[in-house]
Amino acid sequence: MDKLDIVILAAGKGERMVSKKPKVMHELMGKPLIGYVVDAASSLNPAHTIVVTGFGRESVESFLEGKGVTCVVQTEQLGTAHALSCASGLFTGNDILVLLGDVPFVRSQTLAKFLDYCRRSGSIVFLTADVDDPAGYGRVIMDGDEISDIREDADASDDEKRIKRINTGICYIPFQSLRFLEHISADNKKGERYLTDICKVVQGRGKAAKGFFHEISEEVLGINTQKGLLEANILMRNMINERHMNSGVTLLDRNIYIDNEVRIGRDTVIAPNCHITEGTIIGEGVFIGPCSMVRNCVIHDNVSIEGFVVMEGAEIKENAKIGPFSRLRAKTILERDVKIGNFVEVKNSVLEEGTKASHLSYIGDSSIGKNVNIGAGTITCNYDGAKKNRTIIGDNVFIGSNTELIAPVTVGNDALIGAGTTITRDVPEGSLAVSRVRQKNIEGYRRK
Ligand code: UD1
Ligand code: CA
Repeated sequence: MDKLDIVILAAGKGERMVSKKPKVMHELMGKPLIGYVVDAASSLNPAHTIVVTGFGRESVESFLEGKGVTCVVQTEQLGTAHALSCASGLFTGNDILVLLGDVPFVRSQTLAKFLDYCRRSGSIVFLTADVDDPAGYGRVIMDGDEISDIREDADASDDEKRIKRINTGICYIPFQSLRFLEHISADNKKGERYLTDICKVVQGRGKAAKGFFHEISEEVLGINTQKGLLEANILMRNMINERHMNSGVTLLDRNIYIDNEVRIGRDTVIAPNCHITEGTIIGEGVFIGPCSMVRNCVIHDNVSIEGFVVMEGAEIKENAKIGPFSRLRAKTILERDVKIGNFVEVKNSVLEEGTKASHLSYIGDSSIGKNVNIGAGTITCNYDGAKKNRTIIGDNVFIGSNTELIAPVTVGNDALIGAGTTITRDVPEGSLAVSRVRQKNIEGYRRK
């Protein structure tokens, strides 16, 4: 197959987003718009992929690092034709496929079909579609399979605005035709050099640009506004949810947000309003109860998470039970059969097999052995005002309710800590530790 260079236009600010962030960095189910376009591009195996950056280029370029693309800068956003010219220094004689950084749904199969047509026709070709609401898009005025003009929304007459055939912005330009770019003027309402005007330019030179019609209009959706972004997110969310359902995941509601990069095993059940993000990996037969947030976690098979749990950066091994109302923070590792109950917070700690903290506790910077019972209200006092200190607890320890462990401190295997104790010194293996003021009863006191 002929070699191809791909240029992705991504320099625009995205005025209509009313945001400080460059438009292509806005996220669609956890991944910036530009990420989808770069993925589609790389699946076509091009000779080069060039991304034209400009507004907010630092964040765009840092996201693109290591993704096999070359960035060029368009210092001033003078239009899509100008943006493409900015990349011309990197062209190597290959034909060019132009993609837009804000058109993220296009599938590689569609692009492959498009390219097949383009190569056979040898002309400049724009990918077109019919949409019910064409507002905002360039309207394509066809003459047979040739494009006589593309009218941008701002420049369109009322009659032209009714045209439903739109320009997706994706186009193919044979290397020989790139020279026509310099003939494009900025004679329009926005005063920009429109790439779409190349159709008129080639006509004046006895050639014609062609339109390739694509049926699935959702795929060619361009995102320009916050409302457009919301609609795109809903569409993408439904697509992701469908993918999981097709591989055996049970979703109890449509209102479940699963980011693009999340993996979930079969027979896992997810209740309404869960938000599962940042590359989380979930095994088989897991239950996640309603309104839970799961960020960047690894959850092994048959874990059960009751509702209203917030967890990030944690790893949960088989058969553990979490929640409701638990919070697991970064670097938490829960081994098999651990139980974390309501209002328990765990951070940077390892809890070995079978250990239980069922109610109202804070466990931070700790290593806790097997089959430890952590009573209600137990607190690891890990912070001395300057640094974080570790609490180490052996196997089979019983910690009575309302215990404070003032770190750094070590409790040996099989130790027993009486309720209400403040542990300030290490507890040897097998011993009982109690620190409590002895109770005084003054009899008959109320009758005095
Ligand atoms: C563009 C097309 C329009 C099409 C629509 C499809 C033009 C003139 N118009 O309009 O026909 O229907 O896309 O979604 O091509 N960009 C730059 N530098 C610039 C201007 C834009 O890199 O100077 C980039 C933007 O970052 C964006 C893309 O090009 O990723 C499209 O620009 P945008 O301003 O969104 O064009 P539309 O008005 O949507
Ligand atoms: Ca756009």
